Amino acid sequence: MTLTLHSGDLTSLKVDLLALLCFQDQAGAGAGFADIDKALDGLLGRLATEEQFKGKPGQTLLVHTHGRIGPQRVLLVGGGARGDFQPPDLRGFAARAVKAGGAAGGKSVAVALLAADGPANERAAQFVAEGALGGRYRFDKYLTGDRKAKDGVEQVILALTDGADPQTADAIRRGLARGEVVAAAVARTRDLINEPAGFMTPTRMAEVAQQVAKEHGLEVKVLGRKECQQLGMGMFLAVAQGSDQEPRFIHLTWRPKGGKAPRKRVALVGKGVTFDSGGLSLKPTDGMLHMKADMSGAAAVISAIAALADLGVPVEVHAIAACTENMPSGKAYKLGDVLTSMGGKTVEITNTDAEGRLTLGDALTYAVRETKPDELIDFATLTGACVVALGPTTAGVMSNHRALAERWLTAAREAGEDMWPLPLTERLKDQLKSEVADMRNTGERWGGALTAGLFLKEFVGDTPWVHVDIAGPANADKEWGHLPKGGTGFAVATILEYLARG
Ligand code: BES
Ligand code: MN
Ligand code: ZN
Repeated sequence: MTLTLHSGDLTSLKVDLLALLCFQDQAGAGAGFADIDKALDGLLGRLATEEQFKGKPGQTLLVHTHGRIGPQRVLLVGGGARGDFQPPDLRGFAARAVKAGGAAGGKSVAVALLAADGPANERAAQFVAEGALGGRYRFDKYLTGDRKAKDGVEQVILALTDGADPQTADAIRRGLARGEVVAAAVARTRDLINEPAGFMTPTRMAEVAQQVAKEHGLEVKVLGRKECQQLGMGMFLAVAQGSDQEPRFIHLTWRPKGGKAPRKRVALVGKGVTFDSGGLSLKPTDGMLHMKADMSGAAAVISAIAALADLGVPVEVHAIAACTENMPSGKAYKLGDVLTSMGGKTVEITNTDAEGRLTLGDALTYAVRETKPDELIDFATLTGACVVALGPTTAGVMSNHRALAERWLTAAREAGEDMWPLPLTERLKDQLKSEVADMRNTGERWGGALTAGLFLKEFVGDTPWVHVDIAGPANADKEWGHLPKGGTGFAVATILEYLARG
């Protein structure tokens, strides 16, 4: 799909669909509305009234122009109250435009924005690109016949109705290009998550990482069971031992080129459980159904580091993922087992379904020891409790470093991803006390997201660290906003915002 900029008159634009953003109760005031309405002799305004189009969020009205003007169809898209509309909402606008264009069998779609209206800057263009490309996303690899996605929209034009000076045009082109990079990383993340666990095994994850490294100029290291044993990763390997699939520990590195010292060193750690059955603490069917998505954190960090390389960020970045299945079998780790972590602490297993913190604990120790990062950020579909606390679309953010957490949350807000702080209340640490080991792997029912965070904290030392529990937003059981059903690619946009804008 190509993304281009058009500035000036809309009425002669030869496109299959033109999308106009309309704010609530000012439906006629949006970019381009007046010009198109005039060219159609007031038809647009009359239809909006008759069809009760008020510009409410998500409301749309499709009008065929029957050759009277350049655009064959005009789609009015509600933006809600103007004051509530945030730049990231442009993703939803662009996604709707592309979906409607595709549904009508169109190839070219224009979205109208006003340069003078503020949103038409670099960031707006980025969001339009993200929304347009993301809105076209479908995982149709396993569909056959006419259920396979059609070719769809090929050309998206960002149309500035009031013209763009060369500077604005440059900024917009930069934004579109950045949006394409973000969208590609998000799409890759979605693909990795949406692949069935029978295909996306730890071995396949490692192959993907190697391929990504080759394509994007990254260093790559893949450790097998033996090497992990030598490093003493007793927690990671215990989770892996019940599975017939070999575990793979993935480490990708981006070093800025050009001989300049990197501005800082950041390690991104992703939970890479390619299927979480719960182990001997077996999950019921409903709880297991979407557990192919339990490697969403790993998918996000692998895809994000590829994009960071494409953008040439002046930061040394490490992406680390301990990939394994969590399965019950005669070889599986058991309740009551005592494991020795890579960090040296011993852990009593009180629930084999709390496997994420075990795999991550060793991955965090590895990250701290082997990469000595200035900042350490992990992404994990870690607890159902986090979803109970914040709902399915918001990630929980826990940290041992207030300033880093603030910077991270600011990046999330700018990137338009919902993340919210949760407290690492030390009082709950008692819940992790064990009689036979240094600690146990689960606490009580209440505060489950926090005790998981407290468990991880034991493995980061004093490295500034942020833990992002993406159990809710990594995977969607229905379409919401600009995001598709299934793997969403959540966290990638914030990682890129945080590290690529500096
Ligand atoms: N992968 C799950 C967490 C999860 C739940 C992710 C729902 C996405 C949606 C994790 O490994 C898990 O099973 N956590 C347990 C922890 C409990 C045993 C302390 C949970 O949340 O129930
Ligand atoms: Mn589990
Ligand atoms: Zn899990």
